[in-house]
Amino acid sequence: MSQPSPTHPADRAPASPDAASSEADPPFGPDLSIGAGAPTPYEDYVRASVLTHLQQLHSDDPGEMVFLVTTQVMELWFTALVHEWHTAAEALRRDDLPVAMDALRRSTWELEALNAAWKPLARLTPAQFNAYRDALGEGSGFQSAMYRRMEFLLGEKSASMLVPHRGSPQDHAALEKALHEPSLYDEVLGLLARRGHPVPQDVLRRDPTRRHEADPAVEEVWAAVFAGPQDSELVRLGELLTDVAELVWRWRNDHLVATRRAMGAKMGTGGSAGVAWLEKRARKNVFPELWTARSHV
Ligand code: HEM
Repeated sequence: MSQPSPTHPADRAPASPDAASSEADPPFGPDLSIGAGAPTPYEDYVRASVLTHLQQLHSDDPGEMVFLVTTQVMELWFTALVHEWHTAAEALRRDDLPVAMDALRRSTWELEALNAAWKPLARLTPAQFNAYRDALGEGSGFQSAMYRRMEFLLGEKSASMLVPHRGSPQDHAALEKALHEPSLYDEVLGLLARRGHPVPQDVLRRDPTRRHEADPAVEEVWAAVFAGPQDSELVRLGELLTDVAELVWRWRNDHLVATRRAMGAKMGTGGSAGVAWLEKRARKNVFPELWTARSHV
């Protein structure tokens, strides 16, 4: 039986910061001189000093900080998700399924992290929320430009959703562009057609500025894909998209329940009927045929 080599890393004594060092030893701790006298390379990359100074509170209530930070954290996740779905859409357009699937898979993990971020706000009492609610004025997540870009990429287009952003040229331009571009789901349907599936021409050539409406022929295409070989690329793509749709639905429902607990049936700060309006929004599923096709497999 061969003996392990004495120089194998697993056999070496663990390095200790207190161990006497010789010139041959690699450094153990971080180099404290990095960044001294100038912004650190970490700061250059992460911009942490910007990020951690964006918490301008509007009330004296100690509970407002976590409300603001949670909202900002969610905005960052929305940004990452838009990036992933944009990457996936572009990759699908050039038939690069591995790159698209990697981006979609990352996006499911990001959605899970996004949804976990509800924790600190999920059980607000009306009195706790009231303590800073007035300070929000007419501010509402409804006015989130990045959330709207997410919805557009998922196929939920709506020109009227640009209206709140008229006063912010940069956000408005980004939304206008996203409104006119094919959504992630449009690119998926294009790929299915190029792979020989009978996606109707009127679906492929639809006006990209309108929301995707469920189509019976697309449902049949997915039913055929799901009934086919279970290890096929298209089944895996369909399941990944279903994961995305499920996690988006979960975000909407967690938001709805948190809102119901925090403010009951009061009107929203954004002027909607509040919970009743959110209930209607949360009832919808993105990529609708991926759900209904299952009844026909
Ligand atoms: C418990 C705290 C929260 C309450 C009570 C609440 C309440 C509401 C209400 C009532 C609406 C409907 C529009 C309106 O009239 O304002 C809304 C929309 C929205 N909120 Fe919240 N919200 C909360 C936390 C958050 C957080 C942390 C985010 C993260 C960014 C967020 C993002 C959104 C978005 C994106 C919409 C629009 C949804 C859509 O267009 O379907 N909300 N919220």
